Order: sequence, then structure tokens, then C-alpha cells
Amino acid sequence: AARLDLDGLRVVVTAGGTREPFDPVRFMGNRSSGKQGMAIAAAAAARGANVTLIAANIGTEAVPDGIAVEPVGTTLELEKAVTDAAREADVVIMAAAVADYRPAQVQQGKIKKEHTGDRLTVEFVVNPDILAELSAARREGQLVIGFAAETESDPATLLELGRSKIARKGCDFLVVNNVGWNHGFAADDNDVIVLNTSGDIVMEASGTKLSVADRILDATLSRVP
Ligand code: PMT
Repeated sequence: AARLDLDGLRVVVTAGGTREPFDPVRFMGNRSSGKQGMAIAAAAAARGANVTLIAANIGTEAVPDGIAVEPVGTTLELEKAVTDAAREADVVIMAAAVADYRPAQVQQGKIKKEHTGDRLTVEFVVNPDILAELSAARREGQLVIGFAAETESDPATLLELGRSKIARKGCDFLVVNNVGWNHGFAADDNDVIVLNTSGDIVMEASGTKLSVADRILDATLSRVP
């Protein structure tokens, strides 16, 4: 029987990867498939939560009925969608892989090799740190959960990076995962540690992204009324 322990809880989840256009046909992006974020959305909905999924450049055909899906493309679009949705949310979970930078200028026509020659230099400008903004703006009782995708696999280094990241971002919990060429991003399984604001490990899990999703909800939502 389903546990409806999140009945009525308003949960916003971001999933996928933002894309930053250079010109009408090209973008800089990342390899997030959206699987981990979609698994969290599905797990929360199965437990009775009222879920909004902000989907950055992912196929959402497999998202269960009853989840409100809002597609976005760029980081600025994701920022607007999640900020609006957060106003009515009890919990915000930032599983999306967000581009830290975007091209300073978007060309109106295709960038042409005839014009750029043998080397192409593109200037980038920094994007807003959405997780830090959501954390700073959170209401009393609202929970903000971030992720950290790190390419360092040494456990002590991973923990160190996670601790400094949660201190910088100011969220309530940080889900730290090691990512690489063939794990973390796009894989069906994941391996995570969850830190609280003090930097303590509150949970460690590995397995399918759906099983990890349930463990993340267990570890982080226990103090939600
Ligand atoms: O989608 P999958 O293929 O299933 O892969 C899952 C995943 C590896 C993408 C996911 O588990 C994950 O780690 N997501 C976060 C990826 C990321 O952007 O990590 P980061 O360490 O660069 O960012 C830290 C946190 O800040 C994240 O919650 C991110 O959403 C947020 N962020 C980052 C930059 C920015 N400008 N604004 C942000 O809000």
C-alpha cells in the first residue's frame, strides 16, 4: 500500500539541464537527462505531495499524471519559473543542472566559419545562482534542497566540497553526487550523500534513481509539518 506521508505537501522540483544559446541554432548545455529530478517528482507524487516539475530540456512523457510540468530552456527561464512556483511551495528541490554562465551576446544569425576563422572566442557572463537566491528568500518553514555535482570521487574531498557548497548556497540540505563521463549524469543509478546546514551527513544512499529519490525525501522531509 502507498504511504501517503507527504499528503498535500506542495513540492517544486527542477530537473534536466539548462541550455544557453549562442545563436538561433546552437547552445551550450550539459548532459543531465532529468532522470534524478523526475524520480524525485514521481516519488513525492506517489507519496501524496502536490508536485510541480520544472523541466529543463527533457522529455517528460514518462512523468506520472497529476504532476504539473512547466518546460523551460535557459537558466533565466528556469529562474523565473522556479521563483514563481516557490511562492506557493513548502519544499523546493533543485535537481536541475544549471549553467553557471551564458554567452554575453546571442547572435541573431548563425555564427559563420567564414567570419570567425580558425578560432572562435565566445565571452560568457555569469548566471544568477538560483539556489542561493531561493535559499535567501525562503519563508519560515519552507525547505530548500540543493544538489552538488562534483567530479572528485575521493570521499573526503567530496565531503569537503559539499560542506563548502552548502555554506555558500545557504540551503537546508545538499545532496552531493559524484559525476563523471559515465556516472551521475544520465545513468540509471546514483550514489549520494545528504548534508545538513551544519555539514553533517544525514543520509547516504546508492541504487536506482527512484530508490535514491525516496531516501532523499525520507531524510529531508521528516521535519516538514
Ligand atoms: O539528470 P540526471 O541525468 O539524472 O543527472 C542527475 C544530476 C547529476 C544532474 C543531479 O543529481 C545533480 O547533481 N544536479 C545538480 C547539478 C548541478 O548543477 O550541480 P552544481 O554543483 O553545479 O550546482 C549546485 C546546485 O546549485 C544545484 O542544486 C543547482 O541546481 C544549483 N545552481 C547551480 C548554478 C546556478 N547558476 N544556479 C543554481 O541554482
